[in-house]
Amino acid sequence: MNILGINAVYHESAAALLIDGKLVCAVEEERFNRIKHAKEAHFDNPHQFPERAIRWCLKHAGLTADDIDHVAYSFDPKLRRKRFDPDWWFPQWEETFLLRLSQVQGVAEELFGRKLGQKFHFVPHHLSHAASAFFPSGFERAAILNIDGIGEAAGSELAKAEGTRITPLETFDYPHSLGFLWEVMSGYLGFSHYDASKVMGLAAYGNAATFRHQFEQIIRVGNDDYAVTPDYIGFHGNKMDKLAEMVGPGRYTETEPLLPHHADIAAALQEATDAAVLALVRRLKRKVGTDNLCIAGGVALNCVTNEVIQKSGEFKNIFIPSAPHDAGTAIGAAMLVHCARDKKPLQRGHCTPYLGPAYSRRDILTAVNSAGLKSRQSKSPARDAAKMIADGKIVAWFQGRMEFGPRALGNRSLLADPRRPEMRNILNQKVKHREDFRPFAPSVMAEHADDWFETGKHTASHEFMLFAPRVKPDRRDRIPAIVHQDGTARVQLVSRKSNPRFHELISAFHARTGVPVVINTSFNDSEPIVCTPMDAIVTFRKSGIDALVMDDVVLTA
Ligand SMILES: [Fe+2]
Repeated sequence: MNILGINAVYHESAAALLIDGKLVCAVEEERFNRIKHAKEAHFDNPHQFPERAIRWCLKHAGLTADDIDHVAYSFDPKLRRKRFDPDWWFPQWEETFLLRLSQVQGVAEELFGRKLGQKFHFVPHHLSHAASAFFPSGFERAAILNIDGIGEAAGSELAKAEGTRITPLETFDYPHSLGFLWEVMSGYLGFSHYDASKVMGLAAYGNAATFRHQFEQIIRVGNDDYAVTPDYIGFHGNKMDKLAEMVGPGRYTETEPLLPHHADIAAALQEATDAAVLALVRRLKRKVGTDNLCIAGGVALNCVTNEVIQKSGEFKNIFIPSAPHDAGTAIGAAMLVHCARDKKPLQRGHCTPYLGPAYSRRDILTAVNSAGLKSRQSKSPARDAAKMIADGKIVAWFQGRMEFGPRALGNRSLLADPRRPEMRNILNQKVKHREDFRPFAPSVMAEHADDWFETGKHTASHEFMLFAPRVKPDRRDRIPAIVHQDGTARVQLVSRKSNPRFHELISAFHARTGVPVVINTSFNDSEPIVCTPMDAIVTFRKSGIDALVMDDVVLTA
């Protein structure tokens, strides 16, 4: 049975394909259409499908549209009609949104060239998030925490799962959305609504105590629950003025200077979020007697909060998928339809992030030739790359299947030397053009992680850059380029099993320098991460990257 999962409702449009219960591939549309997050977050476009992602999934599996047995869309308009709070946005927007949703099946039928009837499924959004975390986790039983912007109506949802059954327990409907609050605060601080990770980075420079009292009013946290006041989120009224009264002026644009009180706002937001999420974690622990916790939803990308959850010890085992944000719901929705329709067991515990397109050596050489460039073949690309990195070069490392999720995890990565404090500036000037305050993340050989980072118990999710442990104090001056202001780092653990070639590269760097760590930042410059060899070449040529290594094909500037 072939089931196609689609996320298209808000943003991070994506497609995933399950064949007989096995996850075969998953990819985000942004990597093909080269628009960050694939499309605008807009009330008028939930019917805009990730067409290229869908086509690629079919091609990858050697299927045609006729071979697809079921289509799963990770949002349920029925739930929305039942529970939607009109206080969030305007009634005419909601009307348009629902009308567009009523076109979704027709769009799918047009795309597939046939009627789908009962083979088209609307799957609840947070159930899809939950499935995307639980089934790959390999846990037989688990408590599930969704922390999100909004699903149909909920910001957060608690659930429990056993076997192939996921049961929602409780929802925190609008306005109780931590994801929305981060969107609002990102905008308030002059970033785009998508830039929660910038706010998270900025928080390390601030003093949470400055606005602690104010944020206690915005997010009221109890022992095992929280409530967000609607005064500051949603589209009605001038909520920004109210915020300004409370915490001082924000920034209208990214070009305005960042002042210390902006960092204090970010720090207080991070602290309040940690407290709210911890309260939910305690609630879940009380409701579901298990040691296993799965986390999904956009807020699950907050590696600082994840670290707090792990350190709390409420749950012994934690799993967060590589794509906890909306893209992951494409996988979850398909898996839920499988469980409801197919007697074959669903493949569980399979949690690789490397689910996207791979390109052959011939593809790579064709791209190099058509760009009129000269390359050389390396007998040991890992060793060659390690040497260049140790010599202070920025190396673009392109290999194998593209990552599913927002982080580059060693298959579409820019790598550099963490021993050099100046490397952050060099990366920013030559390629990334990011704000100076933002940290760069490290990748470490998993077997050496505990010597360098206070990682705690290793989980599969440590391979997806989802936690921010402290760098061991006595190691900080050895790897200054990746230590954030607060002494932490959003580290990726790399094992030989999960990514042998990337592991080989870091091993070679270790052998040469005594440091089992490299800087790993995504291979892009202010656009989606590169997908094809030609994307890689375009970014290589227009930036100051010193070398591009695609499999064993090496290009130098
Ligand atoms: Fe979501």
